[in-house]
Amino acid sequence: MPVVHVLDHPLVQHKLTLLREKERSTNSFRRLMHEISMLMAYEVTRDMPTQLIDIETPMEPMRSPVIDGKKIVFVSVMRAGGGFLDGMLEIIPGARVGHVGLYRDPRTLVAVEYYFKMPDHMEERDAIVLDPMLATGNSAAAAVERLKEVKPRSIRFVSLLAAPEGLQNFHAQHPDVPVYTAAIDRQLNEHGYILPGLGDAGDRLFGTK
Ligand code: URA
Repeated sequence: MPVVHVLDHPLVQHKLTLLREKERSTNSFRRLMHEISMLMAYEVTRDMPTQLIDIETPMEPMRSPVIDGKKIVFVSVMRAGGGFLDGMLEIIPGARVGHVGLYRDPRTLVAVEYYFKMPDHMEERDAIVLDPMLATGNSAAAAVERLKEVKPRSIRFVSLLAAPEGLQNFHAQHPDVPVYTAAIDRQLNEHGYILPGLGDAGDRLFGTK
């Protein structure tokens, strides 16, 4: 059964509301995306494996759990995935980073790959794919399809917003990949944009048009 986690924490929802507002400046949009990604990092790593290491407190020795950050690889789907990356890296600074470059053919809405670079030894790593807008699901599914070729130990997908159609499409192709999102919006428009959504995440992040 495909899993979708909606991060309905009031802090995430509050920041998401501010982020959606059309008059919000590029600077403020970027800041909010950064803050939300830090909060989402907390939830998406909730079931990450830990290992016990020996440490000494000022009082006595003990064995205490740590995450092996180097085993985590954030896979940023260019270019809007970059808006999620910095906040996630602030929480898990030892993580590795991969990039997938995809663009959407505006006529067919099909994802076309132009870049793919991952760290070595992916079979030992847990991949967390970052793509803020899970709209049609085509680019999300294509990114995960490509990622599966290098066989990471596990894959999670993180978006800020998801459309019901996109979730269905994504999970029809990848029922094994859990999705983490801050909200499931109403629908897509005829151009594949999420409604009510927040517009074009890449343009709003980078101040382009
Ligand atoms: N990509 C975006 O940036 N926004 C959408 O609404 C859909 C896809």
